[in-house]
Amino acid sequence: MRLRNVPGAREVMVENEYVFTEPEGMCGTWKEVFGNDNPIHIEIGMGKGTFITTLAGMNPDINYVGIEKYSSVLLRAVEKQDELQLPNLRFIRMDAENINEVFGVDEVDRIYLNFSDPWPKDRHAKRRLTSRQFFARYDKMLKKEGRVEFKTDNRVLFDFSVEEVKEAGWNLVECTYDLHSDERLNEGNVMTEYEKKFSDMGNPICKLIADR
Ligand SMILES: C[S@@+](CC[C@H](N)C(=O)[O-])C[C@H]1O[C@@H](n2cnc3c(N)ncnc32)[C@H](O)[C@@H]1O
Repeated sequence: MRLRNVPGAREVMVENEYVFTEPEGMCGTWKEVFGNDNPIHIEIGMGKGTFITTLAGMNPDINYVGIEKYSSVLLRAVEKQDELQLPNLRFIRMDAENINEVFGVDEVDRIYLNFSDPWPKDRHAKRRLTSRQFFARYDKMLKKEGRVEFKTDNRVLFDFSVEEVKEAGWNLVECTYDLHSDERLNEGNVMTEYEKKFSDMGNPICKLIADR
């Protein structure tokens, strides 16, 4: 994602009631944050947040937490949430490397990864959100019946991810190389910003779902 520094974005994040900027140590507190026992779905690398904000509006009985590394990107989602005030939506500004300091054992019901950064160099493979190192982190916080859903148009990253699911000892429950042509898997699909951009350019969208 091309990054434009937005002056004041950091300050907005620190003061906004829907954003956590120092989330380390929040393990076990999420029921309290939302004031209910509803399932928790998270999106890691949410960008400007269209996907998670749409889902939160559609599903008031699910709590959503969007995670994004950069304030300048997150700002758009926060401005939208300031208008909508969805009670079931929060954001965290953080690098997901430390995700196990934020969500405790069995605290999360679903993890969405959409158009994650590819980190093309081999020596950076462990930074990919679908690497075995990240699946080990997800294993700790995801409920037994929980799942990871991943979409991308990047075939190299997708092929890597399919291998990593197996390498991590997870099951590949669903796998398509052309989501938008797959009537069953595409039902109810909510497009992300990148998904719209790349499918408009004619790129097929790959999707996998993994569980244990
Ligand atoms: C290519 S964009 C995709 C945005 C959005 N998910 C979509 O599909 O439109 C990837 C986003 O993930 C964020 N990101 C990448 N690695 C991250 C990490 N380790 N922790 C948190 N956010 C991350 C980037 O800052 C960027 O905003």
